[in-house]
Amino acid sequence: MKANQLQVNQIHLNIGGVSILNDVSFSLSEGERIGLVGPNGAGKTSVINCITQFEKRYQGEITFADKLLNKENPQDLPKYKIIRTFQNLGLFNELTVLDNFYIAAHRSFETNMKNIIKLEREVKREALKLLENETIELGDIVSDLSYGQQKIVEFLCALIQRPSILILDEPAAGLNDFEKSRMIEMILRKQSEFNFSLLVVEHDVNFVSTLCQNVVVLQSGELLCTGCPEEVFQRKEVIQAWIGESNG
Ligand SMILES: Nc1ncnc2c1ncn2[C@@H]1O[C@H](COP(=O)(O)OP(=O)(O)OP(=O)(O)O)[C@@H](O)[C@H]1O
Ligand SMILES: [Mg+2]
Repeated sequence: MKANQLQVNQIHLNIGGVSILNDVSFSLSEGERIGLVGPNGAGKTSVINCITQFEKRYQGEITFADKLLNKENPQDLPKYKIIRTFQNLGLFNELTVLDNFYIAAHRSFETNMKNIIKLEREVKREALKLLENETIELGDIVSDLSYGQQKIVEFLCALIQRPSILILDEPAAGLNDFEKSRMIEMILRKQSEFNFSLLVVEHDVNFVSTLCQNVVVLQSGELLCTGCPEEVFQRKEVIQAWIGESNG
């Protein structure tokens, strides 16, 4: 059995006297793909914010390879190769695709005046390779791209940082069925090339079932259940809490 890479242990998050997360625990092993699901407002993004230390007001422990992350700053997480994307896209819209790749790489790789040119040359070469099968050019301004293309650029900007754990917050939101299946295929292909573990938040049952080996279901900030998609999505309480809502 593979060792746990990421451990989320009894997380409680209270904001303004309101309980946002209550005793949430789960773990992600090396190479595993977990779907974090649940209705709107269940606390999925809050969990990601706690893991990546954007949210510091939680109690509990979050460890990566047995190292406690609680005291780290969000900008230091790339040091552990824990890389995230954002629900509402974390790209710089007014900049080019290439500039966004540069910014992503600078987040993760230490640079100084001596090696900056070398790094940017490598990033450009790799970005070109990553965009090989896309209709996206390095010189395109992000805001001129379709939403689906922007999601791909954000995913590839995360990849260029060589994630050990990749956390995607709704990578398929706003995509049509064709774009969704392309995104699944791309994530799986890149995972076998780059070897990351995946934590993905998504509302689409088919997307999660196709992509993930295991599912963690949240409801009102609490862990409702965990298990493989085939089993979890059949459960009455999950259908009531989530699937009924997302299909309705
Ligand atoms: N920074 C914050 N300050 C106050 N309340 C917050 C904050 N972040 C989240 N919340 C609240 O916490 C709850 C969980 O929100 P969260 O965004 O984590 O849910 P979610 O499961 O990601 O929902 P969605 O599917 O809509 O993205 C909501 O009630 C939200 O209003
Ligand atoms: Mg969210």
